[in-house]
Amino acid sequence: MSNTKSILALPGDGIGPEVMTPAIELAHAAAAMDGVTLTVSEGLVGGCAIDAEGTPLPAATLAAAKAADAVLLGAVGGPRWEALPMSERPEKGLLGLRQGLELFSNLRPALLAPALAEASSLKAELVAGLDILIVRELTGGIYFGEPRGVTTENNERKGFNTYVYHDWEIERIARSAFELAQKRSGRLCSVDKANVLEVTQLWRDVVNEIAGDYPDVELSHMYVDNAAMQLVRTPKQFDVIVTGNMFGDILSDVAAMLTGSLGMLPSASLAADGRGMYEPVHGSAPDIAGKELANPLAMFLSVAMMFRYSLGMPEAAVRIEAAVSATLAAGHRTADLHGVTADNQETTSSMAAAVMGHLTNGAR
Ligand code: IPM
Ligand code: MG
Repeated sequence: MSNTKSILALPGDGIGPEVMTPAIELAHAAAAMDGVTLTVSEGLVGGCAIDAEGTPLPAATLAAAKAADAVLLGAVGGPRWEALPMSERPEKGLLGLRQGLELFSNLRPALLAPALAEASSLKAELVAGLDILIVRELTGGIYFGEPRGVTTENNERKGFNTYVYHDWEIERIARSAFELAQKRSGRLCSVDKANVLEVTQLWRDVVNEIAGDYPDVELSHMYVDNAAMQLVRTPKQFDVIVTGNMFGDILSDVAAMLTGSLGMLPSASLAADGRGMYEPVHGSAPDIAGKELANPLAMFLSVAMMFRYSLGMPEAAVRIEAAVSATLAAGHRTADLHGVTADNQETTSSMAAAVMGHLTNGAR
């Protein structure tokens, strides 16, 4: 293993920079424990890139992302840029990175930290010990299908998008999901709308065709409307869920809310060669930006995923996850977390310092 790894940090907008700064410090510390040095460079994406360069994804950012071992992303977007046409919005920067780096496999774990069991909007017994992994296809489907647009003909406006998947796109995301299910409890649920949409009948067919290669995985299929209902009815019936880009976008927000704390959830977006981009699920939260209120834990857990999936350093990942759990167990809370009081409320910086303390104290 090389002793140096290159990281591109893209802090982005809103609370992105506030959570990125301590995340990089934590990453350096965790890597150093394994004798690994991280070289971290910074780039622009999203609204800050629009302001500085007139485009949400400058060519230099995409090139630097392609050259790095892994990319860390804070968040993009905010009300300042909402009036721009769709093709110039901050979100296009994110979509461009996903497409440009071919990050087809998006892992979104929804894990309920034991210390936050009371935080869910569902009854505690329905979610205690919840540990779901949503595997979302990220570079295809209706998000990227052509043709798309809004046209005017005969005084009539028409908006349209195309929901398209090739068999190879379905096969590669399904194989990632089967392999992840093998490493977990061996259950995989594929979500589609095969009763209405031909493209998702193909989805179901392709998933069934390769299922034979994974005899140790118990495969089931569910329509997306039912899956949404089951997620809020008995969420623990699920282990790994695999689905397309748009259904995954929606279901991953549902799953996130089951844990009651969006500020806790990391994500990984992976290419075929294992390189990836890691970002918290919470977004740019412009309402609390600059107020030292942001919860840095989702960003920290994204750093842990980076060590695990792109840098081949699972021990560093485990150390960070343990430090986060220990910090919560010790009672530290940012304003967004269940159980926060005047006595235990931390700022972004003091929460980060608490995690750093647990990381370095927990070191052997
Ligand atoms: C997500 C977000 C993005 C998406 C937006 C910001 C483009 O909602 O990562 O889930 O729809 O994929
Ligand atoms: Mg979303």
